[in-house]
Amino acid sequence: ASTAEKYRPALHFSAQNTWINDPNGLVYHDGVYHLYFQNNPHGNVWGNMSWGHATSEDLLAWTHHPVAIACDENEDIFSGSIVFDRDNNSGLGTAGTAPLVAIYTSAYKPGHARHGIQAQSIAYSLDGGYTWMKHGGNPVIDRGSPEFRDPKVFRYSSAGASYWVMVAVEAQDHQVLLYKSENLLDWEFLSTFGPANATGGVWECPDLFELPVDDDPTRTKWVLIVNLNPGGPNKGSAGQYFVGHFDGTTFASESTVSEVRGGGPLSEYQWLDWGRDYYAAVSFADVPDGRRLMISWMNNWEYANQIPTFPWRSPMSLAREVSLRTVHGRPRLVQAPAFDPGQELESTDRFTQETLQVHDAALRLDQAEGAVQRIELSIDPGTAAEVGLVVRGGENQGTRIGINIAQSRLFVDRRNSGESGFHEAFASLDTAPLRPANGRYELTIFVDHCSVEVFAQGGLVTMTELIFPSPLSTGLSVYASGGSASFHDLSVVRFD
Ligand code: FRU
Repeated sequence: ASTAEKYRPALHFSAQNTWINDPNGLVYHDGVYHLYFQNNPHGNVWGNMSWGHATSEDLLAWTHHPVAIACDENEDIFSGSIVFDRDNNSGLGTAGTAPLVAIYTSAYKPGHARHGIQAQSIAYSLDGGYTWMKHGGNPVIDRGSPEFRDPKVFRYSSAGASYWVMVAVEAQDHQVLLYKSENLLDWEFLSTFGPANATGGVWECPDLFELPVDDDPTRTKWVLIVNLNPGGPNKGSAGQYFVGHFDGTTFASESTVSEVRGGGPLSEYQWLDWGRDYYAAVSFADVPDGRRLMISWMNNWEYANQIPTFPWRSPMSLAREVSLRTVHGRPRLVQAPAFDPGQELESTDRFTQETLQVHDAALRLDQAEGAVQRIELSIDPGTAAEVGLVVRGGENQGTRIGINIAQSRLFVDRRNSGESGFHEAFASLDTAPLRPANGRYELTIFVDHCSVEVFAQGGLVTMTELIFPSPLSTGLSVYASGGSASFHDLSVVRFD
């Protein structure tokens, strides 16, 4: 890799040579995953917001396409979603072709009569998502609000009814607004949800979907995703979720702890990810077999415009499959990578070790080096006070991923991970609550050129963070301090 490209991820989607933020319009259509995204086609900081476009068949290898929906002198194209209008309810299709319909936020520019207003608009594609036309009747919902954005639309069907539902936010009010429509063009207001739980920043990019609990299709619950910026558990941008019931009109949360702005402690809320770089997470429409797959922007508004990648700026997270599992009597989201890179990526470079005993020391695993890895292991903390790994280790450099046993906390310590001086908020030690199961901690960690993504306890707790180490920092160590710990079933697959 050239110096300019030294942080370019191998397993994660990244911008080609410009700026990107939120994933938009995620949809599986005709055998292809479409990823649209907030994009500045003319620079590598936020601006000129348009929808960029890429496609993939396996969620690992991505093909870049030309800008799908471009800003113009009237409007920026803010975040939104895409649905396949298979029965042509919108009438935007033709006799033989049902349209893909994009619902996006028009952010009106200076010079436009609605300057400063955010309203919801429609574009459609008749060629499977590659070229887009704006609907002549835009906008389709305008409340005269400057903070009304990020429409996510899905098909709601119950015994008696079937129609389109939109969730969008009034960002400053900490509210999700729900609307319904028969034709994607005329929308009827249904209800609001919020404020609730975390309100330390604006609410953005909501999503609402139904999932079986514990894989039982007869028992389902609804999950409401609300991204929040700032106000995350480790500062800055993050995503929270609520579990509850949606009756076609109203979402009723079962996981609300506080309805007061600035309410309870952040650790009592449900977070999609506890790391610093997992924002604007939304799910794909129409994935086969009822799978619910999500992607987030792997960055944080605190320092997003300053991360030291050039000429591109921002990767996306890995695609994750989410499901609901009962944990201590409550339904919780668990997450897993949506693919198995052991299977889908060619790699014969695998290091395995059944058991390693470590007594108050760090043990460097010389045969398990790499800049792009999937690490799996189970840790019995024994008598140690702290256990963990150092990934991307090098001369005076390394990212610590560990567990503080007494505090029952998982942490990612990137204070010494590499380049960090580009923003004062970047160098950080970030934590998440984590309990052992049968006395052990299970970790799956994806290491890439500029990130670590940690799935702990079967994906019940995840932490995603950017790092900018030297390309030469490829060391991997396990460590225990304050006592003896044992590391079991260690597997390290290398992809670089
Ligand atoms: C979230 C967000 C959205 C908005 C978009 C603009 O990161 O602020 O609310 O639609 O980015 O790029």
